[in-house]
Amino acid sequence: MISNNINKAIEILNNNNIVGLPTETVYGLAAKMNSDTAIKKIFQLKKRPLTNPLIVHIASIEDLNKIAIDIPEIALKIAVKFWPGPLTMILKKNNSISNLITANQDTVAVRMPNHSLALELIQKLGTPLVAPSANPYMAVSPTSALHVWDYFKENLPLILDGGNCENGIESTIIGFENQEIIIYRNGSISKEKIELFSNCKVHSYSITKNDIVTPGMHKKHYAPNTKLIVTENLSQSIENYKNLKFAVITLSNLKLNKSNYFFLSENGNLEEAASNLYNQLIKLDKMGFELIIVEKLPEIEIGVSINDRLKRASF
Ligand code: TXA
Ligand code: MG
Repeated sequence: MISNNINKAIEILNNNNIVGLPTETVYGLAAKMNSDTAIKKIFQLKKRPLTNPLIVHIASIEDLNKIAIDIPEIALKIAVKFWPGPLTMILKKNNSISNLITANQDTVAVRMPNHSLALELIQKLGTPLVAPSANPYMAVSPTSALHVWDYFKENLPLILDGGNCENGIESTIIGFENQEIIIYRNGSISKEKIELFSNCKVHSYSITKNDIVTPGMHKKHYAPNTKLIVTENLSQSIENYKNLKFAVITLSNLKLNKSNYFFLSENGNLEEAASNLYNQLIKLDKMGFELIIVEKLPEIEIGVSINDRLKRASF
């Protein structure tokens, strides 16, 4: 059921059940932080392996002390600056945090979402919520209540309707090591922004050098069912695949008036493109194309994060 009834959501959560949660990035599947019963339902519904940890969502910075210990000073400053907002921090976990949330690691991921309904729900409930994105494992994340409904139908007792997600791609994930900051997942808060504010060295986590610590770093992720390729040479790709029934996605409107051409932002605005991307992929997935050809976006600002998601969708 899609609804905007917060009290109903609270009742369901207090009954060790789960709800669809709107945030500014993507919709989540939420359970109370202290309900292992409900948390297990999240993993079951998503078909997500238990080795992939969840993000804790809080509504005030004071809640951090219920979740993490040994919080670096710079982490607190970053929290004050960027929360509520699309930034997740990996911190050392407090002993009370369930191993189901952290996949038995000694760290926990935390963020404060910038969405009034989500914040109100967490506040009224009085407990943080754990929530992964509300999609089946590996599928495209949902950016509207209807997307969540399409994925899970009546297997999910309630989806809180908070409209379309403003940001449209998942939060930036960072961790702290020896006075340095590591980006585990790109999002709308860029490396440059974090560097400028923190005065720290900021590295992107490299999957070639290290083991995978963040399963969201899996090469394949966020993928539609339709095969997808990303190209820097659109006309060449169109020529290569001319025998297939293909769709084309470009950043801005090419004004070609072809029924298989789609764009992410009329005027080429990258933030608008990010907020439309998953909706466009989910829509195209239902239109019977054999291939989706996406023109690579400029590697600046949030374009970096969009290209990163597209690359993972194309494996
Ligand atoms: O924008 C978002 O972050 C959305 C909304 C709903 O808040 N959530 C989201 O959750 O994208 P999820 O579970 O789809 O992605 C969270 C990522 C996963 O790749 C997970 O492996 C990683 O965060 N993660 C969680 N806890 C971690 C930890 N302790 N150490 C390393 N990575 C962690
Ligand atoms: Mg996800």
